[in-house]
Amino acid sequence: MTDGLVALRPFTPGDRKRLAELADNVNIFRNLRDGFPHPYSEADAERFIDMAMKCEPPQLFAIEYRGEYVGNIGIHPKKDIYRLGAEIGYFLGEDYWHLGIMSRAVKLACEYAFRELGMIRIDTGVFDYNVASQRVLEKCGFIKEGVFRKSVIKMGRICDEVRYARLKEADF
Ligand SMILES: CC(C)(COP(=O)(O)OP(=O)(O)OC[C@H]1O[C@@H](n2cnc3c(N)ncnc32)[C@H](O)[C@@H]1OP(=O)(O)O)[C@@H](O)C(=O)NCCC(=O)NCCS
Repeated sequence: MTDGLVALRPFTPGDRKRLAELADNVNIFRNLRDGFPHPYSEADAERFIDMAMKCEPPQLFAIEYRGEYVGNIGIHPKKDIYRLGAEIGYFLGEDYWHLGIMSRAVKLACEYAFRELGMIRIDTGVFDYNVASQRVLEKCGFIKEGVFRKSVIKMGRICDEVRYARLKEADF
């Protein structure tokens, strides 16, 4: 999938070293769940890529910017009665922030989830202090649905989680 500048593609074993370089960064870790390793080793990258390559249909993608691997994005379908919805998650290597890359990547991932995975709703939660990610979601047609007050503890700090969702029929 590509919009000409940003592309989403499946992972390959050759992404291992670069993934560890991109992901081993506390400024990324502070915005993600604790399941995201920190420090982030090449062994962590290998485990992630093995898992990503087993997903069928694919749910985890490498983000390329001008042909270079710069970050990750995932669409995680839910189960049971929530199964027409998916959660989206993403990060970008810090050297590539503020270039508009993630807004493009989120749009591509949503198109894929609606068209190929049959999803009708995509949602996610963002820590209250992560204004950049909230802006990305708003630029991509997500609506703020609520605030889960003091629902998160991250690096010893209690914060609110802001919940966003985009529906398939959204017109923006
Ligand atoms: C959040 C993240 C994905 C943003 O990626 P990006 O490619 O830099 O985002 P974009 O350039 O597409 O858009 C960022 C928007 O936020 C705005 N922004 C950035 N920092 C901001 C800040 N501190 N306050 C207000 N707005 C901010 C930018 O101006 C831009 O909006 P604009 O286009 O209207 O000017 C990236 O910083 C990242 O990977 N962070 C760490 C991991 C993470 O937070 N993942 C998401 C968890 S929910």
